[in-house]
Amino acid sequence: MVNIPLLLMGCGGVGRQLLHHIISCRPLHSKQGVVLRVVGVCDSKSMVAVPDVLTSELGDQFLLQLCKVKSSGSSLRELANFGECQVFSGEEIAQKVADVAATLRKSSGLALVDCSASSQTIELLSQVVSLDCCVVLANKKPLTSSLEDYDKLVSKPRWIRHESTVGAGLPVISTINRIIQSGDPIFRIIGSLSGTLGYVMSEVESGRPFSEVVTAAKKLGYTEPDPRDDLSGMDVARKALILARLLGHRIELDSIKIESLYPVEMGPVVMPLEEFLANGLPLLDKDIQKRIDNASSKGNVLRYVCLIEESRCNVGIQEVPKDSALGRLEGSDNVLEIYSRCYSEQPLVIQGAGAGNDTTSAGVLADIIDMQDLYRG
Ligand SMILES: NC(=O)c1ccc[n+]([C@@H]2O[C@H](COP(=O)([O-])OP(=O)(O)OC[C@H]3O[C@@H](n4cnc5c(N)ncnc54)[C@H](OP(=O)(O)O)[C@@H]3O)[C@@H](O)[C@H]2O)c1
Ligand SMILES: *[C@@H]1O[C@H](CO)[C@@H](O)[C@H](O)[C@H]1NC(C)=O
Ligand SMILES: *[C@@H]1O[C@H](CO)[C@@H](O)[C@H](O)[C@H]1NC(C)=O
Repeated sequence: MVNIPLLLMGCGGVGRQLLHHIISCRPLHSKQGVVLRVVGVCDSKSMVAVPDVLTSELGDQFLLQLCKVKSSGSSLRELANFGECQVFSGEEIAQKVADVAATLRKSSGLALVDCSASSQTIELLSQVVSLDCCVVLANKKPLTSSLEDYDKLVSKPRWIRHESTVGAGLPVISTINRIIQSGDPIFRIIGSLSGTLGYVMSEVESGRPFSEVVTAAKKLGYTEPDPRDDLSGMDVARKALILARLLGHRIELDSIKIESLYPVEMGPVVMPLEEFLANGLPLLDKDIQKRIDNASSKGNVLRYVCLIEESRCNVGIQEVPKDSALGRLEGSDNVLEIYSRCYSEQPLVIQGAGAGNDTTSAGVLADIIDMQDLYRG
């Protein structure tokens, strides 16, 4: 049996779904000769860990209880019964995680899993990688920090996986890595990597005003609480940066040209959300409609995409042929077109749900299992 000790940072929607997946996949994994042993879980304020990480684990009942407490919005430390577990907070957490890694590296190894949305986990992740332990990320922030941080994090490429950072559970990163490793140069990647903006752009194409579509998307729960978090393009830019760096581009986040779908004078610091929705958004309808008409006169449609080509990496609205994988996109799917020497006329296309707790955490779990050969005993 391969025994994989696991330490989870972040138990929001994705982290909790991961714990549920781990529990429900136990029969499957044991048939494959793998056992996942959760030795600790952190939220933003605390960490619970077993006293002896070499032998014990947080039991499934305990993990389910923990998920329940977290989904009610409480803090980890409000768990009623910690049993044997130890609880850490503040600076003790990083120290304890490093201790766990140092202890386990000599025996089995450790998977440190980042399902937080924090930029503060970078240092710890790098430290753990340098100890020859595995890290798996759903969190984009550590990979989109400075190049210096990035280089440290990926200094041992075999020990890090982050499939779910782009396109959630879709096999985007692994596909690109395989193409690169086969010596097939990728010269262009263009993709719609925001379910929200994919939905918005395909709906406005059918004639509905932009403001109406955004408002409806918000009501349907497709957008962030403040839709400007989606419309800014920042999340797409982080994904674009991860892909560009994978292709070897030595760039920083601020060198990506990002087109925001609202002007600065309608930004969150200037305009309250209510006013943006009621008075700001409708002012944007005419311009978008003009651009749609212009595109459609050429047989094109508009998509909000990331485009990586030569040394360029841009994020924003592009015209694409109506008769292409991107042009045919409807609803909230992600679509990625990859052009390389082998896929030069017709691109390799990856399409499917690019968000959601379920697919995202499934991608994280697959990453963990995929590295099983790195564990000893
Ligand atoms: N949901 C998706 O569809 C999707 C898809 C792809 C990627 N992702 C990425 O997956 C990550 C998790 O997403 P989510 O939707 O689960 O987010 P979420 O619900 O906001 O959960 C974030 C969790 O991280 C914890 N946290 C914050 N700072 C931390 C720190 N310094 N150390 C340890 N834990 C910390 C939070 O603690 P508290 O509970 O105390 O606040 C919370 O439990 C994000 O980075 C997101 O971008 C999500
Ligand atoms: C993901 O989980 C969070 C927290 O439980 C929940 O609010 C959200 O609706 C879930 N998202 C999806 C797409 O299921
Ligand atoms: C139509 O779009 C092209 C870019 O594709 C642009 O150069 C041109 O100015 C636009 N025309 C109008 C009338 O907006």
